[in-house]
Amino acid sequence: MDEFKPPTSLDGLMIVATAPQRSAMGESLARELGVRYVELTAERFPDGEYHARVPERIDGTAVLVGDLRPDERILETVVGADALREAGADEIVLAAPYLAYGRQDRAFEPGEGVSARALLRALSANADAFATVDPHTDGVLDHFDGATSAATAAQEIATHLADEGVDLVLAPDAGARDRAEQVADHLGCPFDHLEKHRKSAHEVEIEPHDADVTGQTVLVVDDIVATGGTMSTATRQLLDAGAGRVLLAATHGVFADGALKRLDDAGAETILATDAIPSSASAISLAPALARAARRARSG
Ligand code: R5P
Repeated sequence: MDEFKPPTSLDGLMIVATAPQRSAMGESLARELGVRYVELTAERFPDGEYHARVPERIDGTAVLVGDLRPDERILETVVGADALREAGADEIVLAAPYLAYGRQDRAFEPGEGVSARALLRALSANADAFATVDPHTDGVLDHFDGATSAATAAQEIATHLADEGVDLVLAPDAGARDRAEQVADHLGCPFDHLEKHRKSAHEVEIEPHDADVTGQTVLVVDDIVATGGTMSTATRQLLDAGAGRVLLAATHGVFADGALKRLDDAGAETILATDAIPSSASAISLAPALARAARRARSG
């Protein structure tokens, strides 16, 4: 693939959303970047095949809002990128609110597919640069063959919770510690991480935290809530240890398998997520963070 050459100005830059379900994100991102928004028209043939068309000529660079939730939407994103090339775009920045498969970033057992690598390689064939927010690890983006940039929504999460009187920010495991630190820095409070051991896709064990949380407002932050097993276990344990309030926040609220109810049942006072994946918990706009990532990806 040719080396990605960033455009020298924003003139002519357009945002295109891959599918109608991402039009709100596309419009917000276009506003953040101060560029024009174009909606891609999409339909499905009777046999289920997806068809996309960019309704006008595109010159220069386009930012494509890609929906990378598994699995149909991933193909929609790939077809959307191809439509952009057909419409004339010579540079495509794929802006993905959420990158699925980020947790399978290596083979944990012999013979396993490295799903994140497979996905990012396929996307590399269709886009020149890749921008996202809070991928599971920043290193996973190395599998994309082109310029990449990951921003964090830590600032947006902290701003949303600024008036909650958070005493302590905790990450549910060591891997999420940096995120907890960033949120705590914005809130001006201490942070730490819990020790988590995963027993199965649905079940985790978390070791008791040794700090005294009695009566405290504790915020637990993570990149993703999937089944809610991690956050509900952390919530129960903190409440058992005497925490006054437990607030939960994640960038990507997947909320599979009744996760929201699981978190509510565990006693969490608030469950917050960004609109990277739209849900009833999506109270925080991801667009500013995604715009930061897209700008950086474009400038190399
Ligand atoms: C794992 O390392 C991630 O950061 C999340 O903690 C995890 O994937 C959440 O999954 P679940 O909600 O199913 O426990």
